[in-house]
Amino acid sequence: MPTLNKLSINLAKQAKTRDIADFFAVGVDAKKRAEQFSLSAAGLYLDYSKQNINEEELIQLLQWAQASGLAEHRQAMFSGEKINHTENRAVLHTLLRAPDEVKQKILPADLAAEVLAAENNMASLVNDITTGKKKTITGQKFTDVLAIGIGGSFYGIKVGLSALNAYQKTGLKVHVLANVDGKALVEKLALLPIETTLVVVISKTFTTQETLLNAQAVKDWMLATYNNEQIIEQHWLAVSSNITLAQQFGISAENVLPMWDWVGGRFSIWSAVGLPLALAIGMENFLAFKQGAYQLDQHFLSAPFETNMPVILALLGIWNRNFLDYSALAILPYDHALRALPGYLQQTDMESNGKSVNHQGEALNYVTAPIVFGQEGTNAQHAFMQLMHQSDEIIPTDFIVALSGDENYPEHHQILMANCFAQAEALMKGKSLAEVTKELEALALSAKDIAKLAPHKTMKGNTPSNTLLMDKLTPQALGALLALYEHKIFVQGALWQINPFDQWGVELGKALGKDILQAMDELSDTTPFNEKLSASTQKLIALYNRVKKNLSQ
Ligand code: F6P
Repeated sequence: MPTLNKLSINLAKQAKTRDIADFFAVGVDAKKRAEQFSLSAAGLYLDYSKQNINEEELIQLLQWAQASGLAEHRQAMFSGEKINHTENRAVLHTLLRAPDEVKQKILPADLAAEVLAAENNMASLVNDITTGKKKTITGQKFTDVLAIGIGGSFYGIKVGLSALNAYQKTGLKVHVLANVDGKALVEKLALLPIETTLVVVISKTFTTQETLLNAQAVKDWMLATYNNEQIIEQHWLAVSSNITLAQQFGISAENVLPMWDWVGGRFSIWSAVGLPLALAIGMENFLAFKQGAYQLDQHFLSAPFETNMPVILALLGIWNRNFLDYSALAILPYDHALRALPGYLQQTDMESNGKSVNHQGEALNYVTAPIVFGQEGTNAQHAFMQLMHQSDEIIPTDFIVALSGDENYPEHHQILMANCFAQAEALMKGKSLAEVTKELEALALSAKDIAKLAPHKTMKGNTPSNTLLMDKLTPQALGALLALYEHKIFVQGALWQINPFDQWGVELGKALGKDILQAMDELSDTTPFNEKLSASTQKLIALYNRVKKNLSQ
């Protein structure tokens, strides 16, 4: 397979000295570019005409993708081959949003039956809890749900709850608790009516330190009020692939909803991990969310690469990262309801493709995942957009907007849209010294003052961006949006020849955390520090131990 290196020698030479705005200069058939460099799929519309790429360069990238075995790798994923080779696992989160007959075709009969049963059980639970058929220990309807989980056992729920806030019609208030910091726990417990709270512990491994500590604290909190293990039986559920550990925690097997090893944590919102979201928006909307993702899957599987939205997004990302050497990617949803999307995509993208060895374990001689960051617009304009406009860093940006917003405030929505489109235009066009000078002359500033001020007001422009539109932020649109990025990341991983589905990089921090915890528990400045820890860390532990010691006296 032709690796990245073969391509990059000359392909980007012209782009590196090109001004994107020239694609829209007077006299150029700019309308054609705006039309040609856009795509529709599963209710999403992508405008990528503000990218620093021309037709010939894109064709070269597409030919490379064709020659790279990408289609075969895509087929391998959807058909259940163990493409997550370092963990010897298949990658089949897409199956969870596919029709039953596809599950029965791909999975062995018994496993397919288990998956279908789990989905039916989840639907029954949502029905029983939202209708009040499943009651609290005091015979009431549940009013609140606390989902305890972190990483992929948290971000999907969080982005779903905020994005589909307008669809939260069941009346249940769903809260999420992720961080081990007691401040997060105190904040949540203060909101929870203990008598009518359902707790869902979500952990694929059921070994994650933060989740287990939080779950134990909430369990102690409940038992302190209800000194009766029956409350765990009636008020607690778990979602995990490790039923034994969930049972050891005190949750009976029939209250554990299964997860499977072929569903990665950061791709698990489509499984019973989505239970808290379904409890908030109802099963009908949750199924619509999955349907939107399925429609994007079908587009990804069937569209020719040149009109395949995940493939185009992926190639543009590689073009910016590896050919134009841009190290970051800004995710700017101009939609308050999508404010959790940047955080969700940080895990989906950086935990998947933040790697540096290929499938054979050989060091790569090119970089991979970009540094993903972002926040909702227009807030971003009052935070980091200054750097994006006037520093030397060129930061490719994905603008994401819903064309219809809150119907009560159409004027607000119009201003939000205008700001979004303006930022994309400004990042592309910038403002030259000549333009600034002309503006200042029109203000009748002296030549001396103009000469002094003008350089400080120029903007580099030439920043590439995508604008991703949807008519309305519905459950279907959200499903399609998340699936789009999942597949973009899959395509990039395939082309970078890395495994996007393991995450060995999180292990070292966890292991060192255990050593440091032990050093802290010894609670003495003179403790013979564990030689594994640097003097810097040893000093920090000593400072912590001193405060802890004073607090305990
Ligand atoms: O961030 C590391 C990670 O393993 C993620 O991949 C996962 O989503 C998260 O921790 C939580 O893991 P678990 O669901 O097993 O608690």
